[in-house]
Amino acid sequence: MAELIVWSPAKINLHLEVLGLRGDGFHELAMVMQTIELLDRLRLSPSADGRIQLSCDNPNLPTDGGNLIVRVAELLKARAGLPELGAHLHLEKRIPVGAGLAGGSSNGAAALVGLNNLWGLGFSEPELAVLAAELGSDMPFCIGGGTQLCFGRGERLEAQPAPQGADWAVLLLKHPAASVSTPWAYQQSRQQRQASYLEGEAAFEQRRQALRQGPLLRALQGLEPLPPLRNDLQAVVEPAEVTVRQGLALLRRAEAALAVAMSGSGPSLFALFADLEAARRAQASLAGELAAAGFDSWACTLRPQGVSLEE
Ligand code: C5P
Repeated sequence: MAELIVWSPAKINLHLEVLGLRGDGFHELAMVMQTIELLDRLRLSPSADGRIQLSCDNPNLPTDGGNLIVRVAELLKARAGLPELGAHLHLEKRIPVGAGLAGGSSNGAAALVGLNNLWGLGFSEPELAVLAAELGSDMPFCIGGGTQLCFGRGERLEAQPAPQGADWAVLLLKHPAASVSTPWAYQQSRQQRQASYLEGEAAFEQRRQALRQGPLLRALQGLEPLPPLRNDLQAVVEPAEVTVRQGLALLRRAEAALAVAMSGSGPSLFALFADLEAARRAQASLAGELAAAGFDSWACTLRPQGVSLEE
């Protein structure tokens, strides 16, 4: 096989609830994650020299073991017991970095699916999801994408039907100078909110069940209006990040915005709309203020799948 292209989508959190602490030091989460049509593109070709070589059109990204793509490739080679496998990978980066959009995790998932295919390793999707969870909490979700409930660290997945009742779209904002460290955001959450964390599996399961049966999932099926979106990390990031406060204020003023929230550990922000036209109209009407405040913005639809091979 000469060359393979894999699309690697961003995700947003339609819900992010920090339930409590886990024995492994991570946080127990209850989330609804959704892939969107904001895509990186990963090009892969095999090489015979046993080396993994990554290049990227964004010079600010690491292309060594600091990049999940390289870690994924090394892990796959080790698990397959085939050290002679090599590949050239080139990443065209469109998803903003350090944004809470799982761009790095999605690239890792794209590398998993792409290299499994390129090298003909034959790992099944569930096997790839187990490998993915070893390298990042959001990576298993990024393989299948679409709309999923994500529990545990984020790796316990329950796929949901595609949203109905509207041609859902988002307007996404990210200030290029702002970035939030995910470990920092969770640490802040722990410092500020640990007293109210739940304890024990029974309490966690009660919240999972409340989310499964709650108004957000009903709204995504077009059965009722969207409730306000919940992101528990927003409460700790918003006071610390002026661009998060500014961006949320701008989005809340957008005409026809159905709901507004921060994604993941931020600092990216989004508003949901009933269709792409409405998201684009909001982007156009806010254009002056977005430019003045220095925000980058994207209008795009929701995406019903995760990483995908280009046909
Ligand atoms: O798994 P991932 O590399 O995305 O996690 C980055 C960091 O975010 C972890 O090292 C941890 O500090 C924090 N985290 C957490 N609980 C989770 C996911 C991430 O505390 N469920």
